[in-house]
Amino acid sequence: MQTLSTTSLQVRDNQLWILDQQALPQQKKWCPAPGVAELVDHIKTLRVRGAPLIGLAASLLMALLAEKGMSKPELAVALEVLRASRPTAVNLMNNLDRMKRALAQENFISALTAEALRLVDEDKTLCDNIAASGAKLIKPGSRLLTHCNTGGLATAGVGTALGVISRGWQEGKVEQVWVDETRPLLQGGRLTAWELGELGVPYRLICDNMAASLMAQQQVDAVWVGADRIAANGDVANKIGTYSLAVLAHYHGIPFYIAAPHTTLDPTCPDGSAIPIEQRAASEVTGVAGSFGEVQWAPENTQVYNPAFDVTPAALISGWVLDTGVVTPAQVNDGIFKISQSVV
Ligand code: MRU
Repeated sequence: MQTLSTTSLQVRDNQLWILDQQALPQQKKWCPAPGVAELVDHIKTLRVRGAPLIGLAASLLMALLAEKGMSKPELAVALEVLRASRPTAVNLMNNLDRMKRALAQENFISALTAEALRLVDEDKTLCDNIAASGAKLIKPGSRLLTHCNTGGLATAGVGTALGVISRGWQEGKVEQVWVDETRPLLQGGRLTAWELGELGVPYRLICDNMAASLMAQQQVDAVWVGADRIAANGDVANKIGTYSLAVLAHYHGIPFYIAAPHTTLDPTCPDGSAIPIEQRAASEVTGVAGSFGEVQWAPENTQVYNPAFDVTPAALISGWVLDTGVVTPAQVNDGIFKISQSVV
């Protein structure tokens, strides 16, 4: 396969490499993903993460394995193992569905390579289109709050919500970004803070429980977040803590926007209650671990609740900013996300 490079994925010497997002920002470390077991491990440990990116990484690996001579039946098994690596972000399943159709072709090796490269290229365009649509909603002098990481690290392009924010900044409309640290895995404190710093966008990091008081002091003009899956009724699964921000924004009369590509839509999922929510290890809550070291503060054997995502009901969302444009609550009520009237 041709050489390829995005912020956090590379293909070189016919091998997939991922930028270790658990090591950032202290270390910029590229890890090889030579096979399914290695990539599944990178995905489960969130070395590679973000809804669009895991779908792209899995698709590129499928193509590379085909080029290395893996048989059609073996590739079919690999595809299902990759599909099961994380349950919530539907981009993984949507991308692998396309790879499965390529695998069914007679010339499956070239078909898989072409499809994987197409998915990467498309993702860049989707991000640009989201940024263009979303930036129009940003008012001059805005102080925007974001959660988790939705930037170039999580996509092949400029990102989703963070792409909107950085476009708004380039257009001179963003005064400052409030970055939720995003416990337990600190995607905001480690990754979004790093990305905004690299982009030169002014930001201030807050603990997740500080958003309410900032909103009460009228320090937040809008909330922008990404999505892992959008159900047919407009409910959105995203990083744990998103729902509480939506409730807070609603109470304070602050617009709350979802930015996502159409590859995050799941018209087969009727509402948020049908979205599978990944449960993660207790150790992520009883302490922290990363390139900065490891610490445990809770007593041994503490019982923990650790869902990776929560569901924000459509009623709390001001707009769904997709690559195809801005979808309004009225359009969602009219069923725009349902199969028969897909926006795709
Ligand atoms: O567990 P993560 O870090 O993969 O969760 C990521 C998120 O929740 C993002 O908001 C979402 O995937 C959108 S990324 C463009």
